[in-house]
Amino acid sequence: MSESQTTFIMVKPDGVKRQLVDEIIRRFESIGLTLIGRRDITPSLELAETHYGIHKERPFFSEVVDFITSGQVVAMAWKGENAISEARKLIGATNWEEAEPGTIRADFARSIEENVIHGSDGEDTALFELELWFPDGLEI
Ligand code: TYD
Ligand code: MG
Repeated sequence: MSESQTTFIMVKPDGVKRQLVDEIIRRFESIGLTLIGRRDITPSLELAETHYGIHKERPFFSEVVDFITSGQVVAMAWKGENAISEARKLIGATNWEEAEPGTIRADFARSIEENVIHGSDGEDTALFELELWFPDGLEI
């Protein structure tokens, strides 16, 4: 089953500082997805805490919030067939050491926390995150 979806992708501060944004965009285009929104911002604490709210009770919560508020990120909306799962495949496992060769995290991440990129993990999360990061709307 294929379905047109829009997913939320964020290049984290490590990816921006290491100038990986163009390479990451090229990889998303190469799997046939279309960029329909982009914001280059340093997230506020409130935005970061809401984004990772599902992890509020986890031991890594404050570190991951500190990390994504530590610099500029590139927030993006990508649209296409099965965009949510296709993007997660391209990104690879959370832990870069377990990520499939050729995925963005296998190629570029160097720790579990500084893992270069975020991608929505399901339809509900994608809608929540797109609304959060693009409050002025998108044509999705
Ligand atoms: P999670 O949603 O589990 O991973 P993913 O980004 O693959 O959806 O976790 C969110 C982020 O929290 C993850 O990208 C990096 C950070 N994190 C840690 O720092 N330590 C951990 O043990 C886990 C599971 C995540
Ligand atoms: Mg997640």
